[in-house]
Amino acid sequence: MTIAATYADFAARELRGVSPAYERLALAVADDDELLALIGALPPAKRQPNLLFGVVRLLGGPVEDPAAFHDFAVANWPAVEAQVRVRATQTNEAGRCAVLLPVLARLPQPLALLEVGASAGLCLYPDRYAYRYGDHRLGAGAPVLECAAEGLTPPDRLPEVVWRAGLDLNPLDVTDSADLAWLDALIWPEHAHRRERLRAAAAVAAAEPPLLVRGDLVDDLPALAARAPAGATLVVFHTSVLYQVPPPRREAFVDVVRSLPGHWIANEDPDVLRHDGLPQPPSVGGHNVLALDGTPLAWTRGHGQAMVWFG
Ligand SMILES: C[S@@+](CC[C@H](N)C(=O)[O-])C[C@H]1O[C@@H](n2cnc3c(N)ncnc32)[C@H](O)[C@@H]1O
Repeated sequence: MTIAATYADFAARELRGVSPAYERLALAVADDDELLALIGALPPAKRQPNLLFGVVRLLGGPVEDPAAFHDFAVANWPAVEAQVRVRATQTNEAGRCAVLLPVLARLPQPLALLEVGASAGLCLYPDRYAYRYGDHRLGAGAPVLECAAEGLTPPDRLPEVVWRAGLDLNPLDVTDSADLAWLDALIWPEHAHRRERLRAAAAVAAAEPPLLVRGDLVDDLPALAARAPAGATLVVFHTSVLYQVPPPRREAFVDVVRSLPGHWIANEDPDVLRHDGLPQPPSVGGHNVLALDGTPLAWTRGHGQAMVWFG
């Protein structure tokens, strides 16, 4: 696919109806020869719309008006390129805990949580957040994670977590203002509620930072799993990670995770982590599949805002 087609496709598939500002930008970039030439000189892995738009936001550039975006990006290209080369798309969405919680709550307690592809580790605090599944509320404090759930008996207790650890190629630190600014810049412009959620979840994590280890989810998982305390159920989990992992390494990861004791929770795009016998997906929007030990249980929306339970 050409870069222009990638941007146009991203506009149609991911942005329409979700971020009008980024949809406008992606369509304009797809038609902008000057920007396409600059993007084309970047390494292939650094050409994604999300990365470019996030960097321009990080640098204080405009993202509402495509012409202003063009002028800013071209005039500041050395700074944009420098940031694009050192940054990666590492959106950390605490809201995804709302779809993990129903599974976590039914496992033997207490839990030792190990998240692969943890980013800053905000999904390692499912026991600290509050939840709303329709009228059903659970937990107290902030952030409150809302999830429109169908077919689900919502959990009636929070999990008891005695150990939390994350593994990431590039762990981010919520106590570092530059890392926090990057996580903020990755949130799409209109999503003010997600920006608030990031701040609230970052405060929770900063109060008791998780163990975050720099490493690869295949090569370094067994050693980190071996550090989990005895007497707790080890739960290895991941959400929206495997699309960043090349297919042969995904298979290697599944082999490694299946060889470990405890349980494995995946929340991934079904094109990336395949399951047999899935029911029809809900008609609106793209969905991930929530699975426990390889058994699919629910369709989930990307930021944890909705789920349809079928398990
Ligand atoms: C899109 S973020 C998702 C973060 C978090 N799971 C969430 O749902 O909020 C994907 C994360 O996976 C990490 N990642 C990608 N490939 C990895 C690998 N091979 N080993 C460990 N982490 C990886 C990236 O660095 C990034 O932080």
